[in-house]
Amino acid sequence: MDMDRFKNKVALITGSSQGIGAACALKLAKEGCDIILNGHKFDERGEKLIARIEKMGQKASFLAADLSKAKEAIKLVNDAVKEFGHLDILINNAGVEKKADFWEVTEEDYDLVMNTNLKGVFFGIQSFVNYCREHKVAGTIINMSSVHEEIVFPHFAAYCASKGGLRMLTRNLATELAPFNIRINNVAPGAVSTPINQDLLNDKEQLEKVLQNIPLKRMGKVEDVANVVAFLASDDAAYVTGSTYFVDGGLTYHYEEQ
Ligand code: NAI
Repeated sequence: MDMDRFKNKVALITGSSQGIGAACALKLAKEGCDIILNGHKFDERGEKLIARIEKMGQKASFLAADLSKAKEAIKLVNDAVKEFGHLDILINNAGVEKKADFWEVTEEDYDLVMNTNLKGVFFGIQSFVNYCREHKVAGTIINMSSVHEEIVFPHFAAYCASKGGLRMLTRNLATELAPFNIRINNVAPGAVSTPINQDLLNDKEQLEKVLQNIPLKRMGKVEDVANVVAFLASDDAAYVTGSTYFVDGGLTYHYEEQ
């Protein structure tokens, strides 16, 4: 594999202080990409990541923003362009989920999930597309969706609605943005060991049940997801747009022998 796939490229990765976003940052940096990290606020996780990326010989910076607010999502992209002078890759990774029975979902929780997972992403992409069109950049966009853009997840109705929306947004934009040579794809992780799944990881019985539905019989690693993100962000995927790549150990379409 060409280990310089991202030479002279800059990527903005949202929600990248930890979990899948942090793994994507490290993977792209390892292959020559300069990285702009993001999260609600800059803390020691961001500091450590910047140090690791700089050690690899790449530039790294952290821009705080609350992506549940469209204005902040737009500003983040604009600030990211200014940071290193250009921007080539946008990875919309930040996401939240809230568990509740459907009949008890509050408007506040619905708004938090939809605004973070869909509205902020929508307007961040719009800002990136405006920049790409103005500067004739063949930008690449990757949205961190979920297997739940496809399969049901009872008690997570807003989350499913947000990721389902992301699925259709990507399909739609692939066609609308193709004339500008801008590609957009979704990555749909299954069950990955990250802080978002801490409750599951702490509950042995529940974890066993989840593993029964995963043909490869293990949780995903953040690196499993980052590897696919890197492929889609690179020119190796030059002819791929409007797709969802499932990184789920076979979970989505598994079949249980009776
Ligand atoms: P995580 O909770 O470990 O990391 C998400 C990051 O996004 C956190 O650093 C958080 O602070 C940040 N974030 C959340 N809301 C934000 C906001 N409004 N503004 C700025 N930053 C914000 O989660 P994980 O597991 O790494 O998930 C990343 C993405 O992958 C999410 O979109 C999630 O829905 C998706 N995903 C994760 C799966 C898993 O099993 N871990 C499975 C399927 C999808």
